[in-house]
Amino acid sequence: MSQNTAHGPITHKDIFQKCREFTDPDKVKALGVYPYFRPIEGTAGNQVIVGGRRKIMIGSNNYLGLANDERVIDAAQAALRKYGSGCTGSRFLNGTLDIHGQLEEALAQFLEREACLVFSTGFFANEGALVTLCEEGDFILCDRENHASIVDGCRASRAKTVPFAHNSAESLRRRLKRLPPEGGKLVVMDGVFSMSGDIIDLPAMKAVADEYGAKLYVDEAHSLGVVGPKGKGTVHQFGLNDSVDLVMGTFSKSLGSQGGFIAGPRPIIEYLKHKCRCFIFTASLAPAISGGVLKALELMQEETWRIDALWKNTHRMHEGFRSIGFNIGTTQTPIVPLLIGSEMKAFVFSQKLFDAGIFTTPAIFPAVRYGEAIVRTSYMATHTEDELSYVLETCERVGKELGIFEDAAYTGESKRRNSGYDLNLSDQEGPSDIREPAGTGSDESAVCAPVSG
Ligand SMILES: Cc1ncc(COP(=O)(O)O)c(C=O)c1O
Repeated sequence: MSQNTAHGPITHKDIFQKCREFTDPDKVKALGVYPYFRPIEGTAGNQVIVGGRRKIMIGSNNYLGLANDERVIDAAQAALRKYGSGCTGSRFLNGTLDIHGQLEEALAQFLEREACLVFSTGFFANEGALVTLCEEGDFILCDRENHASIVDGCRASRAKTVPFAHNSAESLRRRLKRLPPEGGKLVVMDGVFSMSGDIIDLPAMKAVADEYGAKLYVDEAHSLGVVGPKGKGTVHQFGLNDSVDLVMGTFSKSLGSQGGFIAGPRPIIEYLKHKCRCFIFTASLAPAISGGVLKALELMQEETWRIDALWKNTHRMHEGFRSIGFNIGTTQTPIVPLLIGSEMKAFVFSQKLFDAGIFTTPAIFPAVRYGEAIVRTSYMATHTEDELSYVLETCERVGKELGIFEDAAYTGESKRRNSGYDLNLSDQEGPSDIREPAGTGSDESAVCAPVSG
């Protein structure tokens, strides 16, 4: 829109123009391979119903199969009946239920921590804790593959973000060495990384952090119920529970629900409880969720067969995919990314799996490096042998049909370029500009640069 003034015409920027110009999803929809926002009509354990047909779910984080457990559903229903459908207010004011306190105590006890604070989402737990605890003059040392909620917490905090190379204690050391001693330092990392599925090298990180007086914060979203004794997380796996200052976790994965928490020393938890805006200025965790999560936490500890079955399935899928020839990167966990390469191939691969009765989704730039699109698969304790065999057979067939093993991502001719979605099925080279993926730039140039998603 332009306006005439005494100094000539002024053109005002239309803040919404970018939305009208954003047509990438429409292009993929027109090709019939759009993989996102598929409406699920019902669930039956490991399978979901979409368009009236059953699909084996290999795209969820319901690692222990507890989201559909009848006892969890009963407990959620009982809480719903007792307290109503919502708390209609903040924990700070009218929204604290006795079961919130019970959940916090149960988590603190399970994780062998002094205290715990429950948030309405895991995202809020990370963002809220980082913004509240890290102040101007402080430094947040952030692994480059940390989850978006950590990245956003870093962005929103007044502290300076210092990204370090993924899972590299050496990179962390180089960063810490250059920082002034007077600034507080917090090293933040995922315990299990949500895209690559690898586990943080916590002993090495701790050794470096100790040299520079930095504190440690571990996001156990994908480790809770998966890694460590009884699923207590990576800090227990490495015997470092007493050395890591804060752990964060979510209810949206192994515990099959929604919400998150921070656990650690009581003074820090009390501080967050009274200062954290993501905790105070939002409605508290709904009663049904709180009741369901309490039950799921109990079952997770009692029914250790679930973790054993999860690992059995995990090892089977690692071996199965590797023997077919899929590159599954550095995963050590039930998160198994299948390297596909081009975005279009990832869309088509995912669509062909869907048509064959398997539900999963691709992850493309900027969630992963450009030209290295993946289909992220993840496994549950409750997947059957037959289901897993079918997944392996179908992935092999579709992978060969699409020539995935000949993609540039497999042959090493990496291609990074400026464009929207890459909708070519062929491997023809496009414009040569480098489109640098967020969070994967050169390690050395990155000191104090803002990290991004
Ligand atoms: C590593 C990690 N941290 C935090 C979160 C956010 O958790 P929630 O989904 O409970 O908000 C996620 C969710 O995907 C995650 O993968």
